[in-house]
This record gives sequence, structure tokens and C-alpha cells, in this order.
Amino acid sequence: MTSIRLHLPGDPTDRSYDIVCGNGLLAGVGDLLGRSGARRAFVVVDAAVAGTHAAVVAEALTKAGIEHTVFPVPSGEASKSLDMVGRLWDEMARLALDRTTHVVAVGGGVIGDLAGFAAASFARGLPVWQVATTLVAQVDSAIGGKTGINLAGGKNLVGAFWQPRGVVADIDTLATLPTREFTSGLAEVVKYGMILDAEFFGWLEAHVEGILAREPADVAHAVHRSAALKAEVVERDERETSGLRAALNYGHTFGHAYETAAGYGSLLHGEAVAIGMARAARLARLLGRVSPELVGRQDSLLLRLGLPTSPPETAGLADDQLLAIMARDKKSLGGRLRFVLPDRVGHVDLVDGIDPDLVRQALHSV
Ligand SMILES: NC(=O)c1ccc[n+]([C@@H]2O[C@H](COP(=O)([O-])OP(=O)(O)OC[C@H]3O[C@@H](n4cnc5c(N)ncnc54)[C@H](O)[C@@H]3O)[C@@H](O)[C@H]2O)c1
Ligand SMILES: [Zn+2]
Repeated sequence: MTSIRLHLPGDPTDRSYDIVCGNGLLAGVGDLLGRSGARRAFVVVDAAVAGTHAAVVAEALTKAGIEHTVFPVPSGEASKSLDMVGRLWDEMARLALDRTTHVVAVGGGVIGDLAGFAAASFARGLPVWQVATTLVAQVDSAIGGKTGINLAGGKNLVGAFWQPRGVVADIDTLATLPTREFTSGLAEVVKYGMILDAEFFGWLEAHVEGILAREPADVAHAVHRSAALKAEVVERDERETSGLRAALNYGHTFGHAYETAAGYGSLLHGEAVAIGMARAARLARLLGRVSPELVGRQDSLLLRLGLPTSPPETAGLADDQLLAIMARDKKSLGGRLRFVLPDRVGHVDLVDGIDPDLVRQALHSV
């Protein structure tokens, strides 16, 4: 087991916490909560893992003498809704939960964001623990305190920054994850190498086979290093004010456009991010920031991992529509196009005021 400390010192409250990563950790969740003084828990679980991973967590809580209620939530993005958070609030009120109750999220990003937001908002804030059971959650969504739900008008439009008390990344839970979900999560892993850590990028290139075979040691290293890089960024720019946290959006401006234009669900988030990173690298090449070799190197790693570098032909996405979505992107100020772009493996900058014609070229360049 490895442990990463995410430092958020503060006066009067130190909000620092540990991200524990390894095998067989679910059975220790009860003791973990017990050590932090929890006596009662509200466990929000993805229905897909209710009978498996979440049952192990519930048993661990029982053994540790922590009274708890399990609330299963249907799998899928549709559960990140006002309706579902309303149901959580109602149940929490019915159980007369107060601020001494700890919320435990067991699942992927959907459950983490939803339960995190319910915890942030109910009774003005309950402690929350993120027990991450998808690769995306272990390397990204469970870390950093962004919580929220979707509205008809857009994803993640309502939410709060609410740091967890701790994050548990039990690698064993990934064994049951469908291949497409696992592969999709790898896009964020590649992203960390590209934006922050050339050595890690090289390590990924050398360990593709082990990662795809889900060799425990390789998966553990990929998760640990990614989580550590995310934690470092969050420590230095918790609320996305200095621009550093924006680096995490590498590939995401193009990616969100593809995701939105293709219709949510047809491309998984990581798949859209992989295409987005491939396009962003081309844009960087068109701007003379990187060599064709860098574009090829990144493409090659993505493709070997089973990720796409261009949208499916059948998606039939119109350039104008993609450009319009990108101009509306949070990262674009006043409609000016803004992108996180590499200048080498392991480093990116936020680049402003990019010529839309170059963006169009990047959509199609091979
Ligand atoms: N808060 C953040 O900083 C942040 C960052 C990135 C993504 N997100 C959010 O995270 C969500 C995506 O997260 P995700 O990719 O984990 O999706 P998800 O939570 O929908 O999980 C993906 C699928 O895997 C299933 N599943 C979960 N764990 C499993 C397991 N161990 N075995 C088998 N099946 C399992 C789920 O039922 C679901 O069908 C999006 O809503 C996104 O907006 C948030
Ligand atoms: Zn992402």
C-alpha cells in the first residue's frame, strides 16, 4: 500500500488528507473511518458494485462498529441530477443525519461527484470519503474536491469545492471494470505524463502490455503516479485561480466539443479526451511549439493503449458546430479560443487568442 498526502494546511482547519492506493484496501475502510472518529456513516454506492465492492465496505464498517445506511444509486451519468441529489437529501433528513455522520461514496466519478455534493450541501457540510472503484475516479475525480451535478443546460453546472477526508484507491476493484471503461481512464493517465512528467510518459510507453493486461504492479504504479501528480496540482491551485489547475484540461477543450457534438454517451469521456489530446498536439505543431515527432509519439502511445486519435467517421461532426462549442468553453475568455498546449513532453502552457483557422486545420490534420 502507498499513501500520498495532499497538503491543504489552513487555520483554523487543516484540510490535508491521504490518498491510499494498493490492494485489498476496501476491508480496511471501517478502521480508516474509525480512526478519524466516525461512529455513523451514510454510504452512497453505485448499483453496479452494490453486491460486490460496496458490500465489502459495508462489512468493514460493521466490523469497526460504525452504524451505517447504504443508499444504492442507479449507474450512469443520469444519476448526477438534481432529482437524485434531492432523493439523497430527503433520505439524509429522514435519517436525521447531522454533521457527525460521515458520507462514504463507493463508485466512479458519477457517485463521487453526486455524494460529494450531497455531503457538501446537507446540513452545511458533512465529512465525505471517496472510495474510488473506476480508473477515472482513482486517478482524477475522487481527488481534488470538485463535486457537483448536471443540469439540462450543461454538465457540472451546479456544485461545490468540498475536499474529502480521504481517498481510497483499491486497485482490486478495477478487475471488474469493463475494458472500455478501463481504457477510457487511461487517457487521463497519459495526460498526466504529457502535462507534467516526461519520465512517467516514458514509463507508460515501456509498460503498455502490462497495463493492458492489468498487471497489478503496473496498474498500481500508473494509479499512484497519476494520483500524486493530480494531488500536487490541487495543492498548488485548489480552486483553479492561478492557472496551474487549468493544465489538467489538456485535451479537454477539443474533447468536450467532441463529447457534446457526438451526444453524451456515444464517446466516453476518456475517448473524447484522447482525441482532444491528439488534436491539441497537432494545434501545437501548427503553431510551431512542438515537432511532428512529439505528435507521433503521443499518437502511438494512445493507439497502443486502445484509445482513438480521431473521431469515428460515422460521427459526422461539423467543424462549425465543434468551433462554436469550443468558443463557449469555460476556458475561452469572451469567445476567444484558448487551449492548453504542450511545448515538449511533460510541459504545457495555456495559450490564448488562437486563430480559428488553425483550430479547423488541427481537427483534420493527420
Ligand atoms: N470531480 C472531478 O474532479 C471529476 C474529474 C473527472 C471526471 N469527473 C466526473 O466523473 C464522471 C465519470 O466518472 P467515471 O468514468 O468513473 O464514470 P462512472 O462513475 O459512470 O463509472 C463508469 C461505469 O463503471 C461502472 N462501475 C464503477 N465501478 C465499477 C467496478 N469496480 N466494476 C464494474 N463496473 C464499475 C459504473 O456503474 C458505470 O457504469 C463524470 O460525471 C465526470 O464529470 C469528475
Ligand atoms: Zn477529464
